[in-house]
Amino acid sequence: MKKNDVVVVSAVRTPFGRFGGTLKDIPSIDLAAMVIREVLQRVSIKGEEVEETYYGTAVIGEAALETDVPARQATLKAGMPADHISVTLDRACCSSLTALRLGYRAIKAGEIDVALAVGADNMSRAPYVIPPDVRWGKRLGNIQIWDGLFELGYKGFNPVSVDAGEVALEYGITREDQDRWAYQSQMKYAKAFSEGKFKLGEELMKVEIPMKKGPPIVLEKDEFPKPDTTLEKLSKLPTVYGSPTVTAGNAPGLDTGATAVLIMSEKKAKGKGLKPLAKILSSVATAITPRLIAAIPGFTIQKALANASVALNQIDLIEINEAFAAMPLVSAKILSNGDPEKMKSILEKTNVNGGAIAIGHPVGASGARILMTLIYELKRRGGGMGVASICGGLAQGDGVVVQVNGE
Ligand SMILES: CC(C)(COP(=O)(O)OP(=O)(O)OC[C@H]1O[C@@H](n2cnc3c(N)ncnc32)[C@H](O)[C@@H]1OP(=O)(O)O)[C@@H](O)C(=O)NCCC(=O)NCCS
Repeated sequence: MKKNDVVVVSAVRTPFGRFGGTLKDIPSIDLAAMVIREVLQRVSIKGEEVEETYYGTAVIGEAALETDVPARQATLKAGMPADHISVTLDRACCSSLTALRLGYRAIKAGEIDVALAVGADNMSRAPYVIPPDVRWGKRLGNIQIWDGLFELGYKGFNPVSVDAGEVALEYGITREDQDRWAYQSQMKYAKAFSEGKFKLGEELMKVEIPMKKGPPIVLEKDEFPKPDTTLEKLSKLPTVYGSPTVTAGNAPGLDTGATAVLIMSEKKAKGKGLKPLAKILSSVATAITPRLIAAIPGFTIQKALANASVALNQIDLIEINEAFAAMPLVSAKILSNGDPEKMKSILEKTNVNGGAIAIGHPVGASGARILMTLIYELKRRGGGMGVASICGGLAQGDGVVVQVNGE
């Protein structure tokens, strides 16, 4: 055991809801409060024992509906004590892995022993925005209402789907490659689901929300997967937002969900008699030219592996968030240095149970989701080493290397 080694002791998420689906009216902070309670209760840790909560969210306009310190609101709703320290952060889709990274660093630095990393977003509740000039009076002209979800771009930059599609083509990844990956993502998820890999009690918890009138809202499984898709149907879908390759079929949706990961110093976990799910070997961040968002998970994995002193060929499983199909494909090409056989073998161990194209992508929650999916699968396989990486708006990246021990 090295000084201040950091372990994951509990990890859970809500099922992910689709755009306009079962969870459409539930504030993301309520979903966050649910995963916080569950992640602690699973290992019998009290709120008082958690020293800091880092909370990632990327659709901050939705959290603003509850004006507006989501980490503080969610932790209080979850029953954490009033003196609990929390912080909200936005690093786009990286946010919940960034939350984990900050907790990891605080434990590594020896400042704390127990941290909680949370991520939550409800894209269905993203509000339309009326520009501020309306507040001060509009002398003449039409009033515009903005939809931040539309084109999912950042003002002054291309829509993410345009950058991802163009850069994929530049790396030699065609629309057909992306559709094939999307098809496989759906099929791998369907198989994993039928094998009970997404059952309640591992990464998934049941969402049950009592209603004033009528039956409660209940969600027990991911709502976004499309097991009936075919390659032919995928190939006929139109591209979106002017992207050369991205369609509704090879992209994730505008989804809803929450994730929580409880981490501790290894000595604290030992002292409490907890069996770690995984040890964190490194946790890194990157950023690059905004246009290269499809490539950043590849570069982030290189940095995360170097930081952990682990070689790619020592890695048993890889998770790369399917912000679009372009991301795992371009990243695998980078990691393989263009060697087709190596690329094939990297892709064979990437997202083995499907990815965000099937599971959904509630942006701020997804980083922690890919990490827990990786950890639970490594556990099922009797242990091993894995790396997870996610891209975030304007080409930011977060990556984590973990070691999972067998039973
Ligand atoms: C791509 C996007 C615009 C699609 O939105 P949408 O039009 O509401 O999506 P829908 O689910 O209605 O799908 C559109 C059509 O494609 C079809 N479709 C979607 N996936 C399919 C699949 N796998 N197989 C076959 N058909 C599919 C739908 O059935 C629908 O068909 P219809 O128009 O005949 O009803 C939206 O999901 C989006 O913006 N996703 C990207 C999210 C994102 O960028 N995240 C961050 C990344 S950094």
